[in-house]
Amino acid sequence: MSSNALITGGAGFIGSHVAEALLAAGWRVTILDNLSSGKRAQVPAAAQFIEADIRSPEAASLIRDGGFDLVCHLAAQIDVRKSVADPRFDVDVNIGGTLNLVEAVRASGRPTRFVFASTGGAVYGDLVTPPNLESFAKNPESPYGIAKFSVELYLAYYARVHGLDYIALRFANVYGPRQDPHGEAGVVAIFCQRILAGTPLTVFGDGAQTRDYVYVGDVARAHVLAAGLPTIPPGAVDDRAFNLGTAVETSVTALAHGLLSVSGRTVPMQHAPARPGEQQRSVVSIDKARTGLGWSPAVPLADGLRHTFDWFASR
Ligand SMILES: NC(=O)c1ccc[n+]([C@@H]2O[C@H](COP(=O)([O-])OP(=O)(O)OC[C@H]3O[C@@H](n4cnc5c(N)ncnc54)[C@H](O)[C@@H]3O)[C@@H](O)[C@H]2O)c1
Repeated sequence: MSSNALITGGAGFIGSHVAEALLAAGWRVTILDNLSSGKRAQVPAAAQFIEADIRSPEAASLIRDGGFDLVCHLAAQIDVRKSVADPRFDVDVNIGGTLNLVEAVRASGRPTRFVFASTGGAVYGDLVTPPNLESFAKNPESPYGIAKFSVELYLAYYARVHGLDYIALRFANVYGPRQDPHGEAGVVAIFCQRILAGTPLTVFGDGAQTRDYVYVGDVARAHVLAAGLPTIPPGAVDDRAFNLGTAVETSVTALAHGLLSVSGRTVPMQHAPARPGEQQRSVVSIDKARTGLGWSPAVPLADGLRHTFDWFASR
């Protein structure tokens, strides 16, 4: 059985949960991370750790010579606002870094399964009416979303032309213990920190904008399933893509109330002007993940928010 996995970004929020899930499923795990936002302490003790940048020759030679059956690629510049401020840096890391890894897989000559952390929260945009299906038009509202979808186009090309065996997992808004306040579901981390500090929760605009919040443990489990999925024949870009979400739409206001409720505390909510360009609605269909990946989310929002709040409270 295949057993040797590399996780890029495995010192980060989602990647560290993926590492734990693969270790629990019997995989040998190596983590590559430059610790730009990840933490050494989040690397599971049973994993080997290599501090390197995905853009480096060192990362390429690790993949070329490392004998990996699986690469889960989660390392990225994750901050949507930073991608707006500095799109060239976003391209450098999120497209350039990924191509460095994919070219190394090609050079290795091995049939490595490449699982890419894409986004269901940022590729579809506001021009379609949710719930968003994988096949919907992609009109990303940010350079971050453009780069993530560009990588998927590259991967589909590598599959057709070079036989790359890949799967793209399009995460909705992932939340849970260890989450980074700069990520796509950063609002959960920010609200937890504010409730604990007793400071007001700031809601931008009317608070009616929605997201699909999926618990990190569910997303980690999907990586184990993606690792074991039979190869999907090369085809169009959406063929190997799976949305990972809950198909439940939650407004920012409802999220704030949910967190206040699990915390048992009271802090005021305050409104600030809407942020220009902020997506109004985001929720994904997960029918394809259910049938094609055998995956469905197991953790309801209230339980996930409780785990997450308790984790922030225990720090
Ligand atoms: N959090 C979400 O809701 C969400 C939603 C959709 C997609 N994603 C994707 O999931 C992945 C993981 O995100 P996360 O929320 O865990 O963020 P995170 O910042 O916790 O994890 C990213 C990790 O990548 C590492 N990294 C960044 N640049 C690197 C580089 N050049 N070389 C090596 N390592 C580098 C960081 O140190 C960090 O450990 C990312 O690809 C992100 O785009 C996240």
